[in-house]
Amino acid sequence: MKKILVTGGCGYIGSHTLLDLIDNGYEVISVDNNSRSSTRLLEGVEKITGKKIKNYKVDLCDFDDTHAIFAENDDIAGIIHFAAYKAVGESVEKPLLYYHNNLISLINLLKCVDEYQIPYFVFSSSCTVYGSPANIPVTEETPKQPAESPYGYTKQVGEDMITEFAKTSKTQFVLLRYFNPAGAHPSGLLGEYPFDRPQNLTPVITQTAIGKIPQLTVFGSDYNTRDGSCLRDFVHVCDLAHAHTLALNQLVAKKNKTNVEVFNLGTGEGITVLEAIKAFERVAGVSLNYTIGPRRPGDIMAIYANNDKAIRELDWKPRYSLDDIMATAWQWEQNLYSDEKMFSSGNFKLN
Ligand code: WQD
Repeated sequence: MKKILVTGGCGYIGSHTLLDLIDNGYEVISVDNNSRSSTRLLEGVEKITGKKIKNYKVDLCDFDDTHAIFAENDDIAGIIHFAAYKAVGESVEKPLLYYHNNLISLINLLKCVDEYQIPYFVFSSSCTVYGSPANIPVTEETPKQPAESPYGYTKQVGEDMITEFAKTSKTQFVLLRYFNPAGAHPSGLLGEYPFDRPQNLTPVITQTAIGKIPQLTVFGSDYNTRDGSCLRDFVHVCDLAHAHTLALNQLVAKKNKTNVEVFNLGTGEGITVLEAIKAFERVAGVSLNYTIGPRRPGDIMAIYANNDKAIRELDWKPRYSLDDIMATAWQWEQNLYSDEKMFSSGNFKLN
């Protein structure tokens, strides 16, 4: 059984990917300093699988602590690197935090990959590497425009560092460019678990609906789109997670054509912010309290994926619809809320 090191395993996409990897026969270990996550999602994965998962509570920006993990695990067959800060808006306010966290961690990992000759490496990249694309949908060959946010810039630089390193490395790499991850595992035991006030649209929608956030602000309705709000490609987190397993399977089967392969992971359908809100209202049967506000710095107007390459070469197929995204996200939010109510009322007995 191949052991896969998943960085950011306690996070949103990381935890869902741990589950998919286990379901597909991989052994997993997690590295997550819980600076923006808790063990709750890892506990959810353990509950679903019945397996205990080792998490190294290590900051990947600390080389010695990171190196020690590899010294202790000489059988790591592959790495999936999620651990990074990912809020576009926040990165505009705190660029140095993003440059340091997202790039130093990757450099430390690549140093260990080099020393321990780790065969496979899957990098969590992002559609933000395209900047504001001249044409949509974007393919993997669409020229990258200047990143519109420090977050997007860290993903552009991350891809370039890997591409350069790969020229003198035997490691095989896959770069997965996510569009907008959203939704939650159908079990209701995994979902987006923001460490603070959420920045992404879907958790803001569900927290507004449950009453944690008084009102949602739509950041701009004067864009040149069909309804004036930004256009995005919302992809279910379980579809994203499975793509990582498929990418690893391809690397293990030595089917990759070059030692750095790039794939867009989006549904291929563009949805506007207002359409996403309407989909939620329809699925949840609630009316959302929202207002139209000014544009958010760092946002691009419109992007969605041409996902033909991932479908053709990874045999990947997004299975969840926008309605599934909103239904699973809402179910997860309600589960969180009922747990918090139980805790606060003191009725919750730790077993
Ligand atoms: C989506 C749209 C906002 C909140 C995300 C990830 C990033 C990357 C790309 C993976 C924008 C609008 C949001 C709100 C709003 N994915 N919005 N009111 O910025 O597209 O980036 O996908 O790497 O990691 O963060 O996602 O959900 O923040 O915004 O109107 O309260 O929703 O303006 O148009 P974004 P987002």
